[in-house]
Amino acid sequence: MAGKRSSFSGTIGFVLAAAGSAVGLGNIWRFPYLAAKDGGGLFLLVYLILAVTFGFTLLTTELAIGRKTRRSSLSAYRRLNPRFKNLGILALIIPMVILPYYSAVGGWVMKYTVAYLTGNGAETATDGYFNSFISSETEPLIYTILFMAATAYVVYRGVNKGIESSSKILMPILLLMIVGIAIFSMTFEYTSDDGVTRSGLDGLKVFVIPDFTDLTLDKLSITIMDAIGQLFFSLSVATGIMITYGSYVKSEDNLIKSINKIEIFDTLVAFLAGMMIIPVVFVFMGQEGMNHSGPGLMFICLPKIFASMGTVGTVLGAVFFTMVLFAALTSAISMMEGIVASFIDKFGYSRRKSTAIEFVICAVVGILVCFGYNILYFELPLPNGVTAQILDLLDYISNNMLMPLLALLTCVLVGWITKPKKIIDEITLNGEPFTRKGLFIVMVKYIAPLLLILLLFKSVGVF
Ligand code: PHE
Repeated sequence: MAGKRSSFSGTIGFVLAAAGSAVGLGNIWRFPYLAAKDGGGLFLLVYLILAVTFGFTLLTTELAIGRKTRRSSLSAYRRLNPRFKNLGILALIIPMVILPYYSAVGGWVMKYTVAYLTGNGAETATDGYFNSFISSETEPLIYTILFMAATAYVVYRGVNKGIESSSKILMPILLLMIVGIAIFSMTFEYTSDDGVTRSGLDGLKVFVIPDFTDLTLDKLSITIMDAIGQLFFSLSVATGIMITYGSYVKSEDNLIKSINKIEIFDTLVAFLAGMMIIPVVFVFMGQEGMNHSGPGLMFICLPKIFASMGTVGTVLGAVFFTMVLFAALTSAISMMEGIVASFIDKFGYSRRKSTAIEFVICAVVGILVCFGYNILYFELPLPNGVTAQILDLLDYISNNMLMPLLALLTCVLVGWITKPKKIIDEITLNGEPFTRKGLFIVMVKYIAPLLLILLLFKSVGVF
C-alpha cells in the first residue's frame, strides 16, 4: 500500500461522494428507458421492492467489507478469505468494462450540453440528429475522450480534494434542478393528431400505477432481470466501488445511517428522473413512444419536447443536460477511483501512474464503443429482447452477467463462509441499532443467491 490511506473528512463528505457515485446516468438515462420499456408502474414496483431488500443487502455488505479490511476491492476479498481472492479481480474488471461505454454516453451528454449552451439546442430536436451524431466518425470520439480526461483529472487529484469537494457542490444542485424539472413536466398537456388529449398527470399514472393486465411470466421475469441489473448499476454495487469507498470511512462513523441516506437519495433521484421523463414522453408520444424507448430515449425525445416549449425549452434543455453531465462525471469518477485505488494498493504504483494506465485502457475500449456505431456496426439480438451494438453488449455483459456473478459469489462468501455476523459486527461497531438485521441475514444467505442464480440462467439464455 502506498503511503497513508486517505479517508473522507466526515460522514457528510462520504455520503455525498457515495451518493455522487450512485446517482448518475443510471438514474437519469438508464432507469427511465427501462421503466418505459417494461411498462412503467410494474417496473417501478419491482424496482422499489428490490431496492429495500436486495440493494440494501449488497450496499451494506460492500461498505462493511471495505471498512473492515481497509482495502480496495482488489485486495479486500483476499483479506476476507484467500480462497475468494479472485473476486477482487472480477470486481476490478467490471468497472473497467463499464467505464468506457459509460464515458461514451457521458460524451453524448457533453455534446448535447455544448449544443444547448451555445444556443444550438433546437437543432438537436431535428429528425435523425441523434443517430447521425453517434454514427459520425470523429465527434463522438472527441467528446468521449474529453469526458474521460475530465474524469481522470479529478481522480488524479485524489479523494479529498477532488471527489469530496466536487460532490459537495454538485449533488445538492443536482437535486434542486431535478425536482424543478419533474414538477414542470407535470404541467404538460397535448392533443395528438387523432384528437386524443393526454396530460402530464395521465403520464404520471402510467409511471406509478402498475398495470397487471396481459402480464405473462416471461414479461415479469424480463422485468425482474432488468430491475436487478439496474439496481446494481444504479447503486454502484457489485462493482467493487462501494468496497473501496467503504475503506475510506472512519470507524467511528455511523455506517447504517449513511447506507439509508445513500439508498434513499439514489432511489429518489431515479424516481424523480422517471417523473421528469416518462410523463412527458407519454404526453407527446403516447404508449407507442413508451414501448419503443431505448438508450436513445433521453437524447431523442427530450430535445423534441424542449423544442416544443420554445425559449423556455432552450433554457430548460441547457439546465437539464448540464445537470446530467455533472451526475455522470461524479459516477465516472467513482468508477475510475475504484480501479485506480486497486492499482495503487496492489501494485504500489503512484496515483499518477495508475490513473494514466487506466485512462489509456479506457480510451482504447471507448474508441471501440464509438466505432460500434459506424465502422464496427453489427446487430446482435440479446436474451432480454435488445438488439445490441458494442455499447449494449458491454452493458449486458456487465449488468446482466458479471455483476450478478460477483454479487452471487459475494453473498456466498459473506452468508456461508465468513458468516453474516462479521458484517453485522462491523456496521454495529459503535453499538448502532440495526433494524433490518433479520432481513439482511435471510437475504444474504438464501434469497439473494437464489434469485441471482435464476437471473444468471436467464441472462445466458438457459430459459
Ligand atoms: N451508479 C452509477 C449510475 O447510476 C453508475 C456506476 C456504476 C458507478 C457502477 C459506479 C459503478 O450512473
